Amino acid sequence: MAESLNGMKRTKLCGEFRLSDVGKTVTATGFVAKYRNLGSIQFVDLRDRSGILQLSFSEADHPEVFAKSTAIRNEFVLAVRGTIAPRGEKNVNPNLPTGEIELIVEELRILSEADTTPFHIVDDCKANEQLRLKYRYLDLRRPYLQHRLIVRDQIVRTTAEYMAKQGFLNIETPFLGKSTPEGARDYLVPSRVKQGAFYALPQSPQLYKQLLMIAGFDRYYQIAKCFRDEDLRANRQPEFTQIDIEMSYVEDIADVMKVAEGLIREIFKKTIGLDLPKRFRRLKYSEAMERFGSDKPDTRFGLELQDVSKIVKGCGFSVFDNAARKKGFSVRGINAKGMAKFTRKEVDALQDVVKEYGAKGLAYISLKPDGISSPIAKFFSEERFRALIDAMGGETGDLLLFVADRDKTVFDALGALRLAVARKEGLIDESTYDILWVTHFPLYEYDEEEKRLVAMHHPFTSPLTEDLKYLKDKPLKVRAKAYDLVINGQEAGGGSIRIHSAELQETMFDRIGLTEKDIKERFGFFVEAFRYGVPPHGGLAFGLDRLVMLLTGTDNIKDVIAFPKNQAAACLMSDAPGEVEDKQLIELGLPVPQK
Ligand code: AMO
Ligand code: AMP
Repeated sequence: MAESLNGMKRTKLCGEFRLSDVGKTVTATGFVAKYRNLGSIQFVDLRDRSGILQLSFSEADHPEVFAKSTAIRNEFVLAVRGTIAPRGEKNVNPNLPTGEIELIVEELRILSEADTTPFHIVDDCKANEQLRLKYRYLDLRRPYLQHRLIVRDQIVRTTAEYMAKQGFLNIETPFLGKSTPEGARDYLVPSRVKQGAFYALPQSPQLYKQLLMIAGFDRYYQIAKCFRDEDLRANRQPEFTQIDIEMSYVEDIADVMKVAEGLIREIFKKTIGLDLPKRFRRLKYSEAMERFGSDKPDTRFGLELQDVSKIVKGCGFSVFDNAARKKGFSVRGINAKGMAKFTRKEVDALQDVVKEYGAKGLAYISLKPDGISSPIAKFFSEERFRALIDAMGGETGDLLLFVADRDKTVFDALGALRLAVARKEGLIDESTYDILWVTHFPLYEYDEEEKRLVAMHHPFTSPLTEDLKYLKDKPLKVRAKAYDLVINGQEAGGGSIRIHSAELQETMFDRIGLTEKDIKERFGFFVEAFRYGVPPHGGLAFGLDRLVMLLTGTDNIKDVIAFPKNQAAACLMSDAPGEVEDKQLIELGLPVPQK
């Protein structure tokens, strides 16, 4: 039977009671995390989002309350009133903030009983993820997840305070918008009123925030839900949240970066008490690729890439020789210091890593103390082989690893290999934060599948002024006024200075193969707005979910979202997406599937 509170108002949260409360009569509420009946005394751990408070029911002191307490089971919801008492010295629990006290219960209300839960609600819960997602509201009771959502709230609050202080207005933008090309696949919503037409859920508020600048709002931010129907990974969800920012009268990327650095500093300070440097390091895209094989490098460890194309050119190994000669191809390696100890099997596992990124193979030279082992040695003259080892700084005990391929494949493969080796060998100092900007991104990249240029960030990104001269004939040489913030090898945010001239915007669209008709149909409203006065503007967006992940030390994005989707973009709790009634389909003018 569910009792009502009947006027019981909690004094404060369970985890907030301390020695200073001893002697006070207080009220507490929460869930039963644990109970131990010792015969004439029963202990209960009462849990709420702040922590645990130990309750003590004594048969000798309060026989009726004790009798009632014997019905208590895990996850019952209780309200209790009593006196805070110190625990005996022997019973102090130094691992709990409330470990020095307990509540001697004089009055008990069982507000709700609970069935046995499908899994035990504790942090080291062994239940599989599927079951936990189905009963997400129970999983969320675990301190592990509660902590992450509490930090998320701190970040949002800090953001609101900081942005307001910097003169940014919080403005909402629509969810029901228009599908625009470029970017990921859209989530579409059919229109009932205009049958055959669809809204698209926003992949980001990009167009709206630029229009807000044209509308004169000057400085905007929003905690914005974004929707992208893309392949899901450990750090991607189909709906995720951005801290979205745009500001007017900016020209240099530093103008936006300064605001972003201030916000990130404030967030780190408020959530984990860490002081970050005033300005963050900057790395050019080309250098990030050359040294780390990634545009979001983790620079907490070495294992940097080295280009050995010149040295292997003309060697007898045709795979290397060909790649060394061809434009846009190369041979690069990393020196895994001291890792000649890897067994054949371990090296094979590394092969699998590079193959996952499209490389055809991984060549190695293992400089074992008792002799060199390398399947490619036979293709080299002794002299050239030595030169290759020397160029890589190879010493006895080292393992040299090489990939020959198209540059992009070499970078992707070695970038991933570098991480795999570092993780395997524990080379990453997880106690530090590695924060840097990557700048000078290419404006365009070539899409092999579509055989055309595409915008690397999005088509509203401004080219670097000094590269404008290449726009016509060498577009791949043009770099962008774009920047990504990389934290511990994760893309935490990114943005750019925008194009603010109608003419340049049209050139940009033209270069990526949009016809005048496409532009008019898709971006007509946007392009037209550029005719009526546009302040120079720029901005960026942080992935809020990723910031929470980084600040709470998890590599699973589901840990920081209250109700996440699984890898198949489904919600296992509510069973979304689900079928709808025929009537709904008919109203929308959509075909009713044959049953
Ligand atoms: P971008 O597409 O780089 O830029 O997104 C900004 C940040 O959002 C995060 N993010 C994601 N997080 C979780 N799941 C996803 N599927 C996902 N996709 C992106 C990343 C990323 O850095 N409008 C531009 C920003 C701008 O130019 O101002 C934009 O959306 O952390
Ligand atoms: P093979 O003579 O084909 O057995 O190749 C010799 C070694 O070179 C093997 O260890 C292959 O894994 C490796 N290898 C093959 N293709 C590549 C490539 N594109 N880049 C680096 N190593 C390669």
